[in-house]
Amino acid sequence: MSKDKISIVILAAGKGSRMNSSRAKVLHNISGKPMLFHIIKSSLEISDDITVVVAHQKEAVIKNMQTYFKDINFVTQDAKEFPGTGGAMMGVKAKNEKVLVLNGDMPLIKASSLQGFLDTDAKVIMSIFDLVNPDGYGRVLIKDDEVQSIVEQKDASDDELKIKTVNAGIYAFSKDILEKYIPLLSNDNAQEEYYLTDVIAMAKKDAVSIVPLLVDEQEFKGVNSRVDLAEAEVIMQDAIKSKWMMSGVNMQLPSSIYIEDSVVFEGECIVENACRITGETLIKDSHIKANSVIEDSIVKNSDIGPLAHLRPASYIEDSHIGNFVEVKKSSLKGVKAGHLSYIGDSMVDTGTNIGAGFITCNYDGVNKHKTIIGKNVFVGSDSHLVAPVTLEDDVMVAAGTTVTSGTIKKGSLVLSRKKLKTIKDFYYKFFNKIS
Ligand code: UD1
Ligand code: CA
Repeated sequence: MSKDKISIVILAAGKGSRMNSSRAKVLHNISGKPMLFHIIKSSLEISDDITVVVAHQKEAVIKNMQTYFKDINFVTQDAKEFPGTGGAMMGVKAKNEKVLVLNGDMPLIKASSLQGFLDTDAKVIMSIFDLVNPDGYGRVLIKDDEVQSIVEQKDASDDELKIKTVNAGIYAFSKDILEKYIPLLSNDNAQEEYYLTDVIAMAKKDAVSIVPLLVDEQEFKGVNSRVDLAEAEVIMQDAIKSKWMMSGVNMQLPSSIYIEDSVVFEGECIVENACRITGETLIKDSHIKANSVIEDSIVKNSDIGPLAHLRPASYIEDSHIGNFVEVKKSSLKGVKAGHLSYIGDSMVDTGTNIGAGFITCNYDGVNKHKTIIGKNVFVGSDSHLVAPVTLEDDVMVAAGTTVTSGTIKKGSLVLSRKKLKTIKDFYYKFFNKIS
């Protein structure tokens, strides 16, 4: 079915009280992006008319989503007068004939699975699955292969509570069904809410056939609590890592690795155990060793770690970054920084070696300043560069030196050292020991 035949409504107005959070439920992150982001992204693959229903923390939800998407409609639910998933639908005006209604707390759904709701001509299709523990879900009453009604847990009788077939929370309605039945909903139930699920029983009474569609339990999982959130995170992480492994990335103990949705790998890469790679990161032909953290950075033809930290806006090419090295907002090309360093707001050029214990002093307490290090520079161990500072090509910095700003000319040695003093037998005098 083409995009201009389908409208999608995403319900995101609820409080999400089971999260115990000051943040709106749909704004909780999975693999680096809010739950609502994931569902809108899948929706845009099959529809050109997306409406998100908001109310609780409406401004925050709209602002957040507008940073990712341009052409999304937002409708505000009158959640005080008309609470509930049916109340959420009351202000919605769908453009197209088929209307898919999705709960905003289902971040794992793929566009290809939504397509399954559009393959029949039935006026109402609803998603179901069978659960060993159906706790929290609406129970689906099926007779003669047709859905009769949905009973919410809080309204269910003891017999109904035993039903294992539940409402997964996704429906495809033809537009006229919604226009006819939404205005007829009542809040005569345990939660005094307007339930979208009551449309099903009303339509059934009028001899509309309700087609159940069996969906995958994992993919259609609703996130209601932080336990659900953590479970959904594992599922999405598995999918992200499988995708990259299938396309040629080696991962050791992948269950210990966290990789966000926005990260991209190219060429031959190895990621060792317990790495965390986030944000707009690109890794090409590189080896990321155990326990390294990489955020919003580009790494090409390099090896990183173990235990290295690349903070945002680091560009590393043809370089070796060793353990306990932290890099931030810096470009390193053809550089070796093997041990214990902080390199911030810097540009370091080819052939340069950074010794152990080197620090860029980039912050004067008010502003950040730049450090420029040229080609083939030898930076001795335990040295500091107080920025702004430039080391031209072929400079040597003696171990233990603090370079206090300015420019060190090409080919120079720079050193700040006191003359070395040795006091014979001092130890024995100090501790009153006779040697
Ligand atoms: C709902 C279904 C239940 C189903 C389950 C599947 C109803 C009445 N019940 O229950 O049958 O098994 O989903 O996950 O629909 N929302 C609003 N406005 C509101 C209330 C909720 O927009 O006034 C939104 C929420 O933000 C959420 C979605 O609707 O994204 C579902 O709400 P939630 O409270 O999680 O419904 P469930 O109790 O899970
Ligand atoms: Ca839910």
